[in-house]
Amino acid sequence: MFAGKTVVITGASSGLGAALADGVAKAGGCLALLARNAERLGAVAESCRAAGARVVEVQGDVVDSGACEDLISSALAEFSSIDYLVLNAGVSMWTSFEEIENLSLFSKIMDTNYQGSVNCVYHGLAALKESGGLLVAISSIQGLTGVPSHTGYCASKHALQGFCDSLRIELEGTGVDVLTVLPSWVSGTGLRGRALGAEGEPIGGEAKGHSSSAVPLDRLVAKVLRAMRKRRRRLYVPGYMRIIPLLKALCPCLLDWIIRKKVSR
Ligand SMILES: NC(=O)c1ccc[n+]([C@@H]2O[C@H](COP(=O)([O-])OP(=O)(O)OC[C@H]3O[C@@H](n4cnc5c(N)ncnc54)[C@H](OP(=O)(O)O)[C@@H]3O)[C@@H](O)[C@H]2O)c1
Repeated sequence: MFAGKTVVITGASSGLGAALADGVAKAGGCLALLARNAERLGAVAESCRAAGARVVEVQGDVVDSGACEDLISSALAEFSSIDYLVLNAGVSMWTSFEEIENLSLFSKIMDTNYQGSVNCVYHGLAALKESGGLLVAISSIQGLTGVPSHTGYCASKHALQGFCDSLRIELEGTGVDVLTVLPSWVSGTGLRGRALGAEGEPIGGEAKGHSSSAVPLDRLVAKVLRAMRKRRRRLYVPGYMRIIPLLKALCPCLLDWIIRKKVSR
């Protein structure tokens, strides 16, 4: 299904972005990849080429609109069209609001997770309309509900979710569909190690570990690629997470209690 298709992925130097690139490469797709760390991005691109894919790599920051424009124009110059635009670049946090000493944490997270996605859509939408393509936003279940120690991250994913839900309605009839991916905790990525702490810097080695209920990365990748092929509108991983909006509407205090318990564990 990805044979001959062009897939653009932001945040492709590690975790989910790198694993999606690998999956697309093995399924015969062409790739345009962006991240800030050139060395890690280069290694991902090389491994995709070794799997037989044509790959364009762009070193850049999604916060920089010019870098997003460069990503889209490089993909079009090499492959002539864009079939999938995957908004995956993201950064998280792990600190309660009252402990925060540096407010820049909020702008760093919002600029990357929300504005960075808007920047890519701004430059990529015309190409998606041309191909009747799919916009894929890697949101989070935290885009639908609050989680302690994640105020800024939840806010950024709520913003992304609202942006995508509004855009989907605007794009009705244009041939462009919008898929939002809502994973719970995922193990096997760098997100926790790079999560920002109270001083606005990555916590690194002190980052919290994962519980056994975290979704393994390979399982998430298989589900995302399948949802892309089927042009789904929303993907919950694990699937039982689709109960969250229902609980939030009907029993919000119960939902808060469950989340508080989960996070404190
Ligand atoms: N892991 C989870 O539990 C989980 C759960 C739900 C949703 N998600 C979402 O999944 C997505 C991928 O995260 P992950 O878990 O795979 O984490 P990850 O391994 O840390 O990957 C994040 C990627 O984003 C890139 N990135 C970060 N800031 C960027 C920027 N300003 N410009 C360009 N690229 C940037 C990083 O590369 P560079 O540092 O090289 O730029 C890296 O390639 C994120 O949107 C995250 O919110 C993750």
